[in-house]
Amino acid sequence: MDLPPVLLSQDEISARVDELAAEIDRVYAEAGSLVLIGVLKGSFIFLSDLARRLTVPHRIEFIAVSSYGAKESEVADPVRLIMDVRHAIDDENVLLVEDIVDTGHTLAYLKRLFAAHDPRSVRTCTLLHKPDRTEEDVDLDFLGFTIPDVWVVGYGLDYAERYRTLPYIAELPPEMR
Ligand code: IMP
Ligand code: MG
Repeated sequence: MDLPPVLLSQDEISARVDELAAEIDRVYAEAGSLVLIGVLKGSFIFLSDLARRLTVPHRIEFIAVSSYGAKESEVADPVRLIMDVRHAIDDENVLLVEDIVDTGHTLAYLKRLFAAHDPRSVRTCTLLHKPDRTEEDVDLDFLGFTIPDVWVVGYGLDYAERYRTLPYIAELPPEMR
């Protein structure tokens, strides 16, 4: 199988995840509670690397939302929660962990949803952001990399469920879709 070209190498990702974990440690040093909520499936590798670098106490939850169809051009269904957290998050500091912010609709929806549970705080951590695609603004409290408007795969991100476990982030050229 041909492999798509590297956009962000394993070393670049690893160095940035170190920095993000250090920032998160600083912000939550005195917080007393922290729940990382990973958005499945795309965030599973990022979340596991990030969480293992944190020194502040934290717990892990996962949620799942409806996502894009197989093709990039089939724009998102309305965002829908298809799996909720297992434990109440009231009185917690919530950190939503996403793989990528594209139009912003997913993360904006999730922030509203979790804010409605009245937790102590809700912040966002996303590995990637495509600012050229923004349709809805959402505060990105912790951001790994800003990237151009290309389809990326690997390190958790897929194209029609393919390439998700590549160890680096690749730009998927149209001829490989
Ligand atoms: P948004 O609601 O448009 O911001 O879309 C966010 C979701 O779309 C992400 O969580 C991904 O699941 C998916 N997505 C957007 N761009 C890409 C990409 O380049 N590669 C893989 N998935 C993507
Ligand atoms: Mg996602």
